[in-house]
Parts: sequence; structure tokens; C-alpha cells
Amino acid sequence: VSDMLVDSFGRLHTYLRISLTERCNLRCQYCMPAEGVELTPSARILSQNEIVRLANLFVSSGVDKIRLTGGEPSIRKDIEELCQRLSNLEGLKTLAMTTNGITLSKKLPKLKEYGLNLVNISLDTLIPAKFEFMTRRRGHDRVIESINTAVDLGYSPVKVNCVVMRGFNEDEICDFVKLTQDKPINVRFIEFMPFDGNVWNVKKLVPYSEMLERVEKQFKIERIKDHHTETAKNFRIDGHQGTVSFITSMTEHFCAGCNRLRLLADGNFKVCLFGPSEVSLRDPLRSGVGDDKLREIIGAAVKRKKASHAGMFDLAKTPNRPMIHIGG
Ligand code: GTP
Ligand code: 5AD
Ligand code: SF4
Repeated sequence: VSDMLVDSFGRLHTYLRISLTERCNLRCQYCMPAEGVELTPSARILSQNEIVRLANLFVSSGVDKIRLTGGEPSIRKDIEELCQRLSNLEGLKTLAMTTNGITLSKKLPKLKEYGLNLVNISLDTLIPAKFEFMTRRRGHDRVIESINTAVDLGYSPVKVNCVVMRGFNEDEICDFVKLTQDKPINVRFIEFMPFDGNVWNVKKLVPYSEMLERVEKQFKIERIKDHHTETAKNFRIDGHQGTVSFITSMTEHFCAGCNRLRLLADGNFKVCLFGPSEVSLRDPLRSGVGDDKLREIIGAAVKRKKASHAGMFDLAKTPNRPMIHIGG
């Protein structure tokens, strides 16, 4: 293992998030503007072979976990073959996916067979009409079905990502907690973050402290251990099979333990979720350079990674991409 993946603060990056597509079958308000975003022409999107070549380079340098994101990763036509090839990379321990669950139910048995170990499914409301408002599309019942399919297939826990936004769903927090009663579900309440083109403002942010207070009023909740590189703070609920977590990017960031890097669908390499700093890996790859040169480009970008994001109040002013391009 080289020092390619160690940044100037000593953080070792073993977790690569790969965005497979900029397309999505939903139009969530917290992710993109109503009109959608401009798509990168398909010739400039990484091919399957390019993704596998780059992933292999990262895995042979120390990455042991890959998460597939998007857009919506499951709508990529070659998703099965991609899972198969990525899960076979020597040294990879975990292949994960973050998905909106719209078409997952049908695809999941095959994806599991091809090596997908973990699924995180996004669901922000338990009320179908509110789902249509937030996502600008239908499909609430299909997401619920996908969560149940994932549980039935033995994924444990199935993580349910719930972005909490004031005036939209903070009154549903305790109903979401109830999902964990009899099922191995980990509900994760996520602080709303600003991205280019989304509807963020500070008044819509429900801080972790307030979410926790709401849960404490109705449930006996106890903090359990989390790994220092984890995005989530984890809790057990008395009498529940599943667990509850909070992802506190805004009020208590977890950058000190960051182990995450990002490869975007257009082949740009992004060392932090926030900020405009990106470098293309696609262009050198297509110009025919060897692995050593790619390692040098990746290593230099990792060394430029900042200690933490710009902070709650400056984040919204820092240029970035829309969330749909980054994949979280
Ligand atoms: P696990 O691998 O299951 O722990 O999932 P994860 O939390 O790494 O990934 P997921 O795609 O489920 O993301 C959950 C939330 O965490 C989303 O809102 C992401 O945008 C956010 N998130 C993921 N990685 C980072 C990160 O590096 N920094 C920050 N600030 N937020 C992140
Ligand atoms: N703030 C916080 N989380 C977000 N996600 C998408 N947009 C935002 C945002 N603005 C979540 C999605 C998905 C994960 C990749 O990121 O719900 O679960
Ligand atoms: Fe890592 Fe950047 Fe996320 Fe902080 S904001 S945890 S540095 S990716």
C-alpha cells in the first residue's frame, strides 16, 4: 500500500464513492432544481471498463469499500455487470449502493447474487402525497416495497436515509423511529445540506440536537458505538430490533475521521463532498497514460484535501456542484 491515499492530515482514505450516472428517475427538491440539471454528454461519462480500471487502481492502493451512487445508480443499464466486476476486485471487502429504491425491488436479488453487500435506501416521508411533493414524481409504494425486499433478502441492517427539513417532515421523526421496532432497519436522520441548485436555507435545517430531543420524548434511546470514520452517530431504542442514527454534517461535522473519496460519473475526482476542487481522471486515462501517472494525479489531489468543510455558514456560499452530480 502506497501513501497515495493518505492526506496531509494523516487521514487514510479507504472508502471510494463512485457516481455511475447523472440521471435519476426522481427530481428531489433537496438534490436538484425543478428543471433538472444539464447532463454531461454520454461520450464523456465513464464507460464500464474505465470505471473498473480506476476502481482497481484505488483498491490496489488500499480502498476496501466502494459505494455506488448517482444520480440513481440502479438505472445504469450495465449495473449488474458492474457489480459483478467490482465485487470481484482483489482486496475489496464491501460493495455498497445508495439508491432511491424506485426500481430496486426487482433488481435486488440479482445485484445481491453479483456481490452487492449493503444497501442504503432514501426515504424522507411516510406520506405518499408528501413524497410526490418532495420528489416531484410518484413511487412511494415502490420505495417501501424495496425496503421490504432488502430486509427479506437478508440485508441487515437496511439503512433508510431520511433528510430532515423544517416544515416538511420533522413531525414524522417518531413515525420513522417506529419502522425500527420489528425489523433490522437503521433509520438515519440527516441534516439538510446546501448544494448548488437546491432549496437549502438555514431555517430549513433541523439541527441534530432538536431531532434527538424529539426522539427522546417518545422513546428510551441510548448511544451506541460508531467507528471513527463513520458519517453517523448511532443509537439503540429500548425494545427495538433496528437502530436509529443521525448524520450531523452541519452542526457537528465529522471531517476529522473522513475516509471518503469520490469519483464522479464524468470521471472527475473529488476529494471532499464540498468545495469546487476537482481533477479529471478521465482525460489522462483517455490520453493513454499508465497507472503510475494516474496514481501521481490522485495522490496530489488527496494531498490538497482540506482539514474540514467550510463550516455551516460558509458552505452555502462555497461553489460546488448540484447534489445529483456528486451522489452524496
Ligand atoms: P454507510 O457506508 O452505510 O455508512 O453510508 P454513508 O453514510 O457513507 O453513505 P450514504 O450514501 O448513505 O450517505 C448518507 C448521508 O451522508 C448523505 O446525506 C450523504 O451526503 C452524507 N455523507 C456521505 N459521505 C459524506 C461525507 O464524506 N461528508 C459529509 N459531510 N456527508 C457525507
Ligand atoms: N442534504 C442532505 N442529504 C442529502 N441527500 C441528498 N441531498 C441531500 C441534502 N441536500 C441524501 C440523499 C441520499 C444520500 C446520498 O444523500 O437522500 O440518501
Ligand atoms: Fe470528508 Fe469533506 Fe465530508 Fe468533511 S465534508 S467528512 S472532509 S468529505
